[in-house]
Amino acid sequence: MKILAYSHRKDETEYFKEFSKKYNITVVLTEKQPSMETAELANEFDCISIITTIIDAELVKKFHEIGVRFISTRTVGYDHIDLVESKKLGIHVGNATYSSNSVADYTIMMMLMVTRKMKLIMDRSNSQDYSLIEVQGKELPNLTVGVIGTGRIGKTVIKHLSGFGCGILAHDIYEQEEIKSYCKYVDLEYLFKNSDIITLHMPATCDNYHMINKESLSKMKNGVCIINTARGSLINTDNFIEAIESGKIGGAALDVIEHESGIYYNDLKGQVLNNKDLAILKSFPNVIVTPHTAFYTDQAVSDMVENSIRSCILFKEDKDNPWQIT
Ligand code: COI
Repeated sequence: MKILAYSHRKDETEYFKEFSKKYNITVVLTEKQPSMETAELANEFDCISIITTIIDAELVKKFHEIGVRFISTRTVGYDHIDLVESKKLGIHVGNATYSSNSVADYTIMMMLMVTRKMKLIMDRSNSQDYSLIEVQGKELPNLTVGVIGTGRIGKTVIKHLSGFGCGILAHDIYEQEEIKSYCKYVDLEYLFKNSDIITLHMPATCDNYHMINKESLSKMKNGVCIINTARGSLINTDNFIEAIESGKIGGAALDVIEHESGIYYNDLKGQVLNNKDLAILKSFPNVIVTPHTAFYTDQAVSDMVENSIRSCILFKEDKDNPWQIT
């Protein structure tokens, strides 16, 4: 069988070689992103593998016309694909899970960086200001962390975090027995009110769009730290910026922001960007902004490639596919 892998990066090449050999299939690689212009490359492929490029209704339709039957995204999130249109046309969509340690460890690193004021410490020492002014931090064992979303990544954050000795509150509509010895499940109101650090680990859905907004922020502790390694759409950025300016939010680390698509993963040095929020957020000394890199480890990239290939094979063989969404 043959798969066309769009948006191929050099760091994926070895894994594509290894796993196409292991599973005895052909994978054709292109650095091009899927678009109306590049859709024809998928001629004669019924499975394509993509990353985070937006696949809107028009592009879903185009792929369907060309004969594509399965779109596998080498990512956990699949909110970049128009599922309504794909369901309508009967074109199937799958995601790919990968080592949850990648995002979980990065999340904890961000918590530590925010609570220890690392952005300010590094900025200051880069300009030879080695004073202690304004860089006193807090210790995790004295803090309570609220984890919203206890799927694969949230669960791993909780397990790894438990070694730090902090209080851990958790919220999810589905409770996980295996982490109940490390955390206390509570309702959202309680979590907002009692957490010093809040970290988000849910997929983006219509129901949780802008769940961090003026109202939810008003319920939180003054000086709360917020970590987002999930999706930008979970946060109302205008309300968030106001809360940083007022001091309601004491620190934040954002690996994702609204409207990051087209900016992140590109070298845009010297260009004028059209995302004012990014410029404002980056300007705050207590806000760390990173370009959606929490996932980016050797193990995660290997898993993304392997599981996308496995998912296409399962689809073709009409077998149970744990990654198939529609
Ligand atoms: C995901 O897998 O959903 C991610 O957030 C990482 C991806 C954008 C490369």
